[in-house]
Order: sequence, then C-alpha cells, then structure tokens
Amino acid sequence: MASSKPAPKAAPKPEPQAGTILLTSANGSLGSAIAAQIASTPDLAGEYHRLYTARDAKAAPALQAALLRGHGTAAATSSSSHDILSLNTADLASVREVAAQINARVTSICSYETASY
Ligand SMILES: NC(=O)c1ccc[n+]([C@@H]2O[C@H](COP(=O)([O-])OP(=O)(O)OC[C@H]3O[C@@H](n4cnc5c(N)ncnc54)[C@H](OP(=O)(O)O)[C@@H]3O)[C@@H](O)[C@H]2O)c1
Repeated sequence: MASSKPAPKAAPKPEPQAGTILLTSANGSLGSAIAAQIASTPDLAGEYHRLYTARDAKAAPALQAALLRGHGTAAATSSSSHDILSLNTADLASVREVAAQINARVTSICSYETASY
C-alpha cells in the first residue's frame, strides 16, 4: 500500500550570488589568509562574488597565491567569481574611485577590514 505521507521537502538551496564579500588589504598576511579561507569554503566561494583590494591589483603575489591555495587549481581560480581592485587608502582619489566601483557592483556587502592605519 502506498504511503500518503508527503515526501520530505529538500532543503532550500541558497540563491547563487547571494551577495558580495569585500576584503580590503587582501594581499597582507591576515588578508591573504582570509582570502584563502573564503576561496576554500564552498558556501562562500560558491555563493558570493568577492571583491579583493590591494594597493596594486596587478602585483598582489600573496593574494594570488592564497587564491590558488584556496581554489586548488589555476583554472578554478580564473573561473572564480572575484575581482581584484587597486586601493590606496592614503590617496583620497583612489578611495573615491574604488568606492564608486564597489557601489556600482555590489548588491550587499559583508566587509572584513584587516588593515589599520
Ligand atoms: N597578523 C596578525 O597576527 C595581526 C594580529 C593583530 C592585529 N594585526 C593588525 O592587522 C593589520 C594587518 O596585519 P597583517 O599582518 O596582515 O599586516 P601586513 O602583512 O603588513 O599587511 C598590511 C596590509 O596593509 C595594506 N596597506 C598598507 N598601506 C596601505 C595603503 N596606504 N592603502 C591600502 N592598503 C595598505 C598592505 O597592502 P599591499 O599588500 O597591497 O601593499 C597589506 O595588505 C595590521 O594593522 C596589524 O597590526 C595583525
């Protein structure tokens, strides 16, 4: 006899791109450790767009190494949903420019600040 019990509902899947994580000073010791942790955490790396800042986005070796470590392979790193922005907090024009870029991109922010000045 067939059971009249309804099948259990599957747990709701989180929306892809649940929001944006902003990690400043992501090329520093703390920042790159956090970046690696985020990259290796599927609930974060899979659901959130990540914005990383470094003083020079094109020369951020600790961050690049951390992303590689976290994602496992270069291919996974390049297909990952993240951007690296150049931000010099000692330069007001740089801060304004990056703030404008961030405001244009994000839907919501979970911000981790790792540098103090
Ligand atoms: N490490 C620890 O265990 C620990 C413990 C407690 C508190 N803290 C504090 O946490 C903060 C970060 O520590 P850390 O160990 O990660 O230091 P770190 O490795 O020396 O990194 C410093 C970071 O600050 C960034 N930075 C410096 N001047 C900047 C500027 N003008 N504009 C934008 N970014 C700038 C650097 O960016 P670039 O790499 O792009 O140049 C780098 O990512 C420090 O204030 C430290 O005192 C650290």
